[in-house]
Amino acid sequence: MSNITAAITALGAYVPEFVLTNQLLETMVDTNDEWITTRTGIKERRILKEEGKGTSFMAIKASEDLIKKYNIDPKEIDLVIVATATPDMKAASTAAYTATQIGAVNAFSFDLEAACSSFLYGMSVASAYIQSKKYKKVLLIGSDKNSSFINYKDRATCIIFGDGAGAVLFEPNYEGLGLQDELLRSDGSGREFLQATYGGSSYPINESTYAEGKHYVFQDGKTVFKNAVFNMADVTEKVMKRNHLTNSDVSWLVAHQANKRIIDATANRINLEEEKVMMNIQKYGNTTSATLPLLLNDYESQLKKGDNLIFAAFGGGFTWGAIYFKWAYNNK
Ligand code: UT7
Repeated sequence: MSNITAAITALGAYVPEFVLTNQLLETMVDTNDEWITTRTGIKERRILKEEGKGTSFMAIKASEDLIKKYNIDPKEIDLVIVATATPDMKAASTAAYTATQIGAVNAFSFDLEAACSSFLYGMSVASAYIQSKKYKKVLLIGSDKNSSFINYKDRATCIIFGDGAGAVLFEPNYEGLGLQDELLRSDGSGREFLQATYGGSSYPINESTYAEGKHYVFQDGKTVFKNAVFNMADVTEKVMKRNHLTNSDVSWLVAHQANKRIIDATANRINLEEEKVMMNIQKYGNTTSATLPLLLNDYESQLKKGDNLIFAAFGGGFTWGAIYFKWAYNNK
C-alpha cells in the first residue's frame, strides 16, 4: 500500500464576462424566468463570445489564476490534463496548447472526455498518477465552451448550459489527506439521450445536416433527469456507506451543477443539510467539466483542512460517479 495520497493544493478559475440572463433568454426562445428558476435553479450563465477563443482560452486563464495566486512555477508541472467535452479543435490536443501557453514546458498533456463527468474522472486519473510516485505536480483543468454547440433556438437545452473553466493542482500528501475512495461508473446505452449526433466520426457534418442543425446538442431531458437523480444519489450513498460516513461526518457535497433538483435529490438521499451543499448553478448554469472546480473556487474560503468532501457527477454517455475526498489546507 502506498503511503502517499493525492491532495488538491491550489485552485484557479475563469468565467467569461458576458452574462446571459433568464430575462435575455426570454427574448430569444419561448421561455420565462419563473419556469427556468423553478425547474433548474439557474438565473444566469456566462458565454464566451469572442471569435476564435475556445476552451483553451478559458483553461489558460484559470491556470494563470492558479499559478499567480499560489506562486507556482509552471516549469515544475509534470502533467496537464484538460477535462473537456468541447475541445478547441479536432486532432490537435487542447491540453498540449494550454500547457505550452502557461509555460508548463516540462509537462506532457492530454485531454480527457467523459461529458459532464470529465472532471470527476480526471480527479481519479490525476490522483492515480500522483500515487504511482511517477509525478509530483498534476494540473487538472475542467473547461468547456458549451455555447459552441448549443442551439439558441432550442429551449430544452439553451437555458441550461454555460461556459467556464476551473483548475486544480494535485500534489502528494503524507498526512492521508486528498482522495480517499472513488466509485466511477458508465453505461453506453444512455448515449442516445444526450448527444450532438453530427460532427463526430460517425456522422461528419454535411450541408443538409448543418442546415437542419443536427450538429447541436440534443437532450431528452426527462430521461437524463431520471437517470441522473437515481445514479448520482446511488453512488454517493454507496461511497459513504463503504467508508462508514454518516451525514454528520460530511462537511460538503460538491455535486455537478446540472439542475438544482438533481443536487437536492442527492442531498436528500444522504440527509444532508442545505448549508453543506455547495451551489452556484444560479450564476453559471451547467458548465459541464467546469462545475466542480468552479464550486471549489467559490467555496474555498470556507474549506478547512481535514473537511470531508463528497464529489458527485452525472453526464452524457452515460457517465457518473462519486469521490470521497479530504481537504488538505486552510485558506492560504
Ligand atoms: O449535465 C448533464 C446531465 N444533464 C442533466 O442532468 C439535465 C437533466 N434534465 C433536466 O434538468 C430537465 O429535464 C430539464 C430542465 C431539461 C427539463 O425540465 P423538466 O422538468 O424535465 O421539463 P419537461 O421537459 O418535462 O417539460 C415540462 C414542460 C413541457 O410542457 P408540457 O408538455 O407540460 O406542456 C415543456 O414543453 O415544460 C415545457 N418546457 C419549457 N417551458 C418553458 C420545456 N422547456 C421549457 C423552457 N421554458 N425552457
